[in-house]
Amino acid sequence: MKNKLTFKLLILISLLSPMTLLSQTSLIQNVYNRSTTSLNGDWHYIIDPYENGFYSYRGHSFDEEAELKGEPGTGAYFTNTIAKNKTERIEYNFSMQPTLEVPGSWTTQVEELKWYEGTVWYQRNFDYTPKDNSRVFLYFAAVNYESHVYVNGKKAGSHIGGFTPFNFDVTDLLVQGENFIVVKVDNTRKKEAVPTVNTDWWNHGGITRDVMLVELPENYLQDYKFELEDENSPTIKGFVKFAGRDKEQEVTVKIAELEIENIIRTNKDGIAHFNLTPKNLELWEPGNPHLYTVELITSDEKVSDRIGFRTIQVNDSDILLNGKKVFLRGICMHEENPITGKRNFTHEDAELMLGWAKDLNANFVRLAHYPHNEYVHRLADELGILIWEELPVYWTIDWTNRSTFENAKNQLLEAIFRNKNRASVIIWSIANETPVNENRNNFLKELISITRTTDSTRLISAAMEVHSEFVENNSVKVIGDPLGEFVDIISFNQYHGWYGGNIDDFPNINWRLDYNKPVFVSEWGAGAKYGFHADKQTIWSEEYQAHLYTKTLEGIDRIPNLAGFSPWILSDFKSPRRPLTNIQDMWNRKGLIAEGGHKKKAFFVLQHYYENKLNEED
Ligand code: GCU
Repeated sequence: MKNKLTFKLLILISLLSPMTLLSQTSLIQNVYNRSTTSLNGDWHYIIDPYENGFYSYRGHSFDEEAELKGEPGTGAYFTNTIAKNKTERIEYNFSMQPTLEVPGSWTTQVEELKWYEGTVWYQRNFDYTPKDNSRVFLYFAAVNYESHVYVNGKKAGSHIGGFTPFNFDVTDLLVQGENFIVVKVDNTRKKEAVPTVNTDWWNHGGITRDVMLVELPENYLQDYKFELEDENSPTIKGFVKFAGRDKEQEVTVKIAELEIENIIRTNKDGIAHFNLTPKNLELWEPGNPHLYTVELITSDEKVSDRIGFRTIQVNDSDILLNGKKVFLRGICMHEENPITGKRNFTHEDAELMLGWAKDLNANFVRLAHYPHNEYVHRLADELGILIWEELPVYWTIDWTNRSTFENAKNQLLEAIFRNKNRASVIIWSIANETPVNENRNNFLKELISITRTTDSTRLISAAMEVHSEFVENNSVKVIGDPLGEFVDIISFNQYHGWYGGNIDDFPNINWRLDYNKPVFVSEWGAGAKYGFHADKQTIWSEEYQAHLYTKTLEGIDRIPNLAGFSPWILSDFKSPRRPLTNIQDMWNRKGLIAEGGHKKKAFFVLQHYYENKLNEED
């Protein structure tokens, strides 16, 4: 009892901690449909491995100096100081520097920065005319990994986490005419970071997604959520939240196609809840990804969004979409384009990747191992593809470090905030392949509770691992991670036939499941070098990979409560852990689609299997 109480108290404290308050409150819902000015384009950059522009030679941070003295030293790169005359000694000049494209990573733009991990300063100018009765936010869809943001030499804010959005109110920092922004970006890997020092993907540093100015009225719609409570008696419930000086506002909630037009009034905290009871609501699902145009109209702005309504639940061994059993025909994908080798950040990248998933007859994608850009979720809504979204709590995180926990929690809350209205997103995954121990269990259990409290409309899982036991001399693979008690779906990665075991034995494996919950195999697969052909026993050949797919698919139904799987992985991707010359060359070759975009033999094995599965469902 006492432990339960302390645990509950811990949750409460962590939910109210300052960091959460900061990022959580200031994030703006559905930025892409607001009045915005893009700041994408060419930004000057300075490589600063010694953080010379951030710390004095005594190691004092110029930020602190700025706070203490009002003005930092001229050595602070964020002041963007230009020598005014021939006697003034300024040892940097952004305007003379080369440029990097934003969005984009420096690793794929400048050969000498391919392997670079450290600080790079970005700078650009832009013209702006402040408007009356408006607030202006500087929005970053993502910056990998730690960023410090300055506008006209003043600190706007900082952010940690490479895959989620953040924004700062810069209304009071902007001036009429020419303005400038300086961003310090540092992608140094750290033990206490999330992810930590070891990952099997490329550490693409930089301002990796869209940057924009968002102009909002003085009192603006900061947040809203729409959700379908129950597919049988369709009631759409939700809330709107205002920010600004005067939060008591009138809002019209309009869904023209459903002949809904309700006026609601927010309370002094800017919040109003609503319940809508539409007639003939078409439910969103892969076979019919129906989206409604939803409009929120206030005296100062109109925000529209495309939202699908569906329910997702578990019932013993089944995953139920709109009350009907669904099998997740999945594939994993990284946010990297195998044709360009670059970090994805556009609608076109999303079209390419999800287009291939559709070619596979997949109805589900596991976005590994971090929140991907928003174009993916919005396109998945349109295409009818279900999504697993994951937090980069990957392998061996610093479990006992409270700031690591706060960081992971903040990334989780930012990811949930951004995607709460996306019908396609059905599963929050809080971790991948983390070692079973008490500190890890407590860390993840706390994250799971926060996820449940923050969003009770989606399922929770984590990519776990199985262990082997011998029962009466028979080897049994046990799906028994203690975390299984706290998640909705029991997911695990397994690489029988690649990281151990003979693939021909796979159909005979004995499995033991310790929970009566749906089971999802979140990874399996094998590497293959495109164009390398040999017999099916020859490793790295397309035939070996195809054979592993065939045998795995032959035996996978022996896994109890199997509700779906997502093989590793849609396309080859870059990894600094893969040096094998002429085979890997710093690429993980487990893709079904090769570097360059070519489909390997195994692609068609899975495509055919999913086609049959689809026909079975009809
Ligand atoms: C792991 C891990 C992936 C990795 C894959 C592999 O299971 O989750 O990030 O890339 O296996 O080894 O290819």
